[in-house]
Amino acid sequence: MKNLAGKVAMITGAGSGIGRATAQVMAARGALVAVADINMITAQETVDLIADAGGTAHAVSIDITSEAAIKTAIEQVAHDFGRLDVLHNNAAFAPFDVIANDTDILGITTENWDRVMQGTLRGTMLCCRYGVIEMLKTGGGSIVNTSSMYGMSAFNLMPAYSVSKAGINMLTQNVATAFGRKGIRCNAVAPSMIHTPMLEGAIPAPFIEMNIDATLVGYLGSPDDVAQVVAWLASDDSRYITGQIIRADGGSTAHLPTYADARRFFGAV
Ligand SMILES: NC(=O)c1ccc[n+]([C@@H]2O[C@H](COP(=O)([O-])OP(=O)(O)OC[C@H]3O[C@@H](n4cnc5c(N)ncnc54)[C@H](O)[C@@H]3O)[C@@H](O)[C@H]2O)c1
Repeated sequence: MKNLAGKVAMITGAGSGIGRATAQVMAARGALVAVADINMITAQETVDLIADAGGTAHAVSIDITSEAAIKTAIEQVAHDFGRLDVLHNNAAFAPFDVIANDTDILGITTENWDRVMQGTLRGTMLCCRYGVIEMLKTGGGSIVNTSSMYGMSAFNLMPAYSVSKAGINMLTQNVATAFGRKGIRCNAVAPSMIHTPMLEGAIPAPFIEMNIDATLVGYLGSPDDVAQVVAWLASDDSRYITGQIIRADGGSTAHLPTYADARRFFGAV
């Protein structure tokens, strides 16, 4: 299926995890992919993986905490490849020490709150801004933001991360609404816990098990599970869908909180 043939697609945070998988899927579907990341070593690894599979990709340096860096990177892609059709705003500013400090609104330092908002919500807004500017020049495009289940339902931890993702949801709807008649669609994908490198060693195994227990599909999602949704939202196959937050969460947020315990209580599988 080459439903992204001829499209120029830029993906932030494409040196790892969900972004890398999305870059690979979009390239396999014919897109010319700009692999944008703050880490140029892993970005180049993604480019090489795509080249080995017969696709076309280029590494681009971006730091989503810097407006100047975002502007430069998006303008560079549009200039070098002649247009920007697809933008997946996937990178989040989530250093482990900052997320570990994101305990509750009493525990997180105000400085770290601001850093998460700057890196994640503000960074995504700025990527949308400069992406829209380029897309307007060629009649439109498709933007996909990476949200999270933590932006859909409240958790007792991670207030800054959750609020930044909830903000990304409204940003998504706002961009879709403001620029829909100019040919720009904007959607978000909201994953549950996904098996990315970030998980390795950082998340206690029992907590990972709890997350699997809450899914309706019975397994921990892979980066490719999310990438398939993003690539579809990027393509014209989803042309009548905009302003939506699509939950790629194995059904984790579709049910009552008692779901997992009730399954055991009633002896169901
Ligand atoms: N993994 C999960 O369980 C999960 C669940 C829901 C949502 N998400 C979201 O998915 C997105 C990708 O997460 P992932 O798990 O694939 O992460 P990851 O750590 O595997 O990859 C993140 C990538 O972003 C890059 N990056 C970090 N800071 C950056 C910056 N300032 N500018 C540009 N690039 C930067 C990193 O170098 C890395 O390549 C994030 O928005 C995250 O919040 C992840």
